[in-house]
Amino acid sequence: MAIRNLRLEGDEILKKKSREVEKIDEKIQILIDDMIETMHQYNGVGLAAVQVGILKKVIVIDLYDDHGPIVLINPIILKTKGEQEVDEGCLSFPNQFAKVIRPAEVIAEYTDREGKRMKIKAKELLAQAICHEMDHLNGEVFVDKMIPGTLEYIESEKK
Ligand code: NI
Repeated sequence: MAIRNLRLEGDEILKKKSREVEKIDEKIQILIDDMIETMHQYNGVGLAAVQVGILKKVIVIDLYDDHGPIVLINPIILKTKGEQEVDEGCLSFPNQFAKVIRPAEVIAEYTDREGKRMKIKAKELLAQAICHEMDHLNGEVFVDKMIPGTLEYIESEKK
């Protein structure tokens, strides 16, 4: 496994749309492992492949609960319900946070890393993370949809 370079704010690739994964081969498995390691390295709750420069529909999410990392390949949202106003950040926008309106619940369908088509019903932080990461696959980032005037820059604490 390896930590990959993060693509940051201003990088044009973040505006591009990702393509479907056609075959879950070894290259995709390595990408998934590297994405999980990279997300953990930067204490992120989610990462989309485009953020490491790969325009494929692959997302990893980890809420640091008992479930462990979730891998979503070729995800689609089937249904959303309600709204939640949330604070959001992104590993491609270090130290920036803003308020965003997200669905309170989502039902999504995706392929897992074993190639099985799955459904997930998510709410709260998981719903937020799925929507945020799926936006990346569409070339959208959270500052595109933040509530105007809510962007804050927070210096990270030096270790
Ligand atoms: Ni992000």
